[in-house]
Amino acid sequence: LVDLLALHKLNTLHLHLTDDQGWRLQIDKYPRLTEVGAWRRESPLGYYTEGKADGRPHGGFYTKDDLRELVAYAAERFVNVVPEIELPGHAQAQIAAYPELGNTGEQLEPWTSWGINDQIVNPEESTVQFYRDVLDEVLELFPSRYIHIGGDEAPKTRWRDSERAQELMRERGLADEEELQSWFVRQIGAYLESKGRIMVGWDEILEGGLAPGAVVMSWRGEEGGIDAASAGHDVIIGPEAFVYLDYYQAPSDSGEPLAIHPEKFTDIAKVYAYEPVPAALSEEQRKHVLGSQGQLWTEYVPTPEHAEYMLFPRLCAIAEVVWSSPERDYADFEGRLREHLPRLGALAVNYRPLDGPTPGQRATWANR
Ligand code: ACM
Repeated sequence: LVDLLALHKLNTLHLHLTDDQGWRLQIDKYPRLTEVGAWRRESPLGYYTEGKADGRPHGGFYTKDDLRELVAYAAERFVNVVPEIELPGHAQAQIAAYPELGNTGEQLEPWTSWGINDQIVNPEESTVQFYRDVLDEVLELFPSRYIHIGGDEAPKTRWRDSERAQELMRERGLADEEELQSWFVRQIGAYLESKGRIMVGWDEILEGGLAPGAVVMSWRGEEGGIDAASAGHDVIIGPEAFVYLDYYQAPSDSGEPLAIHPEKFTDIAKVYAYEPVPAALSEEQRKHVLGSQGQLWTEYVPTPEHAEYMLFPRLCAIAEVVWSSPERDYADFEGRLREHLPRLGALAVNYRPLDGPTPGQRATWANR
């Protein structure tokens, strides 16, 4: 994948390393993060909203040596690897490993479903320290200036229900739970800044007040990016409707492999039509747009070949969009793409042909 990024002049690989369903990197100070947090009992079968399970344990994680090797390989090809350590939500795997990070002390297991749940770490100083410790080891592995701390999809119900969280909120003079999240994110941002790094977070970090110097990754739309750039922050704009590569690339009933949602569908023409510098920004504010990125979440991506199928050729469209001025012509792009696809074929990339999957590709999914 790093070779393919370099081939398309894409210079950043963002790795989402922690979530409710698994913690995916070795941290020496907290071994249970991978002993417990990297393994789940089972996963959803079919769309997760159907509530069926596959009954098969799943797990794994990157060792520090794996990540050092990856970072060095990528650096030789001018690709920077940005790690994401998600907080304060999407935290069930780490709470399963260390129940004291949660709000009730109950013993959980890494989550066996997909989507959003209300597990959120508690807002104690000791939890902030946990992340400082984790980040110390992360910063040693990843020289990236930019470090992603997640911040998305963190329902506040458990902070509302927790007397201790409410007490901390009052002690810190915070008006509500959004400000409490913002407080949390600011502690982490200040720590990263003290280490010479820049914090990146999903656009929810705007809620409750944006941390000084934070970079916003706008995923729900452009608005978060526009608001942050208007306030003088750097932004990466990657709205789900255009650049989420876990979405179907043709209608879900047209013989595509199972993907995240039956109605979420982004074909290559839609990706190509995306303009990552919002028209609402002034000339000066536009300088804050660092770029865009395609997101490939992998709930329904079981193999590297399947990742290639979802990424290519839509990622070719993203590469051209981020490196060209807004006057673009899809027909012209498609003509050039038809010349490019045989190159991917020669590299044995399992890309999706423009007129649909091959019989061989269909047969692979049928066997799962
Ligand atoms: C996200 O897709 N929750 C960033």
